[in-house]
Amino acid sequence: MVAKTQFGLEEILAKELSDLGATNVETHNRAVSFEGDKALMYKANLYCRTALKILVPIEKFKARNERDLYEEVRRIDWEQYMDVDGTLAVDGILKSEYFNHSQYIGLKTKDAIVDQFRDKYGKRPDVDVVQPSIRLNLHINKDDCTLALDSSNESLHRRGYRGESTIAPLNEVTAAGLVLLSGWDGKGTFMDPMCGSGTILIEAALFAKNIPPNMLRKRFGFESWKNFDAKLWKQIKEEAQANIIESEAIFIGSDSVFKVIEIARENVTRAGLDEDIKLSNKRFEDTKPPEGGGTVIMNPPYGERLQVEELNDFYKMIGDKLKKDFKGFNVWIISSSKEAMKKVGLQASKRMLLFNGALECKYHCFSIYDGTRDPRKM
Ligand SMILES: C[S@@+](CC[C@H](N)C(=O)[O-])C[C@H]1O[C@@H](n2cnc3c(N)ncnc32)[C@H](O)[C@@H]1O
Repeated sequence: MVAKTQFGLEEILAKELSDLGATNVETHNRAVSFEGDKALMYKANLYCRTALKILVPIEKFKARNERDLYEEVRRIDWEQYMDVDGTLAVDGILKSEYFNHSQYIGLKTKDAIVDQFRDKYGKRPDVDVVQPSIRLNLHINKDDCTLALDSSNESLHRRGYRGESTIAPLNEVTAAGLVLLSGWDGKGTFMDPMCGSGTILIEAALFAKNIPPNMLRKRFGFESWKNFDAKLWKQIKEEAQANIIESEAIFIGSDSVFKVIEIARENVTRAGLDEDIKLSNKRFEDTKPPEGGGTVIMNPPYGERLQVEELNDFYKMIGDKLKKDFKGFNVWIISSSKEAMKKVGLQASKRMLLFNGALECKYHCFSIYDGTRDPRKM
């Protein structure tokens, strides 16, 4: 199988898959390949915090033009995977000079499948891009074509706890990646003092309570497949439910915008984490963390709406506040603003390259010491 992910999260995802029992786990660019049975495929969809899709390759062949592609796809016995009354969708991903449009290769693939059914039954399956019986993923690299069944259907970042909103939140997979990359052990104080819609806090709490990230999701692609094993799936979900634990961690979130905190509260409620996550409408400047240290992960504004001067001052304020009030904390900051990050005025102990959507970002770790220890000598 192939699990797709975001740049920078491959190693973390490989570990998640190995922990679930996957074998022959190998990392690639934005993907991890692995082996396992049907139960593992179901579990990977339910449990992997940093996977976007779990693909199951079914055929590999060579093609240099649409005609060859059509013939190769038509050669496959599609009745193994769907019935004439079923529906399908095809996603095309193209890295090849032999073909022009990813949409067009998707169409050609669909034509080959529906023509096979029409020849046999005099009628054809329909296209359904929302909830098809099978969603196919056609990947063409030069003349190497791989056809895979998409066992997730909708991207796995759609956990089921987020409502519609106008603010641009962090992708759930990115947020989970930030939590796992930080190496946080799920204990003690966990804060996001610029929490927006609460994504980082929710992903952190799901992790600390051993709740699979996709426990709330209504549907996965494999549930519409011909070989769907409802009993096995029920068993896997029951086992996951039984393994949920109480967390002793304290989750504190705040944001300077009232409306945003209301959205965060709705998301936290939908995620069933009202008892765990405390939210308040407060500026970072006015935040007082509890004694005893802990972990902070924050995603401050990158400056889309601010002048450079203002942004630099804002990041300087973050650094000053951290030095003054966050002693004993490990503070992780993700930002795309290289210049502004320098104004934080702290030496990062770790720096990782990640993406927030298309934006290249750095994820920095700052250990705020209590003044008696010089971090440069640690
Ligand atoms: C990039 S967004 C965070 C998005 C969040 N990670 C999510 O998933 O929704 C930055 C947030 O910082 C908040 N913010 C800006 N200035 C602030 C300040 N001085 N104190 C606290 N929050 C602030 C904004 O209201 C915004 O919600």
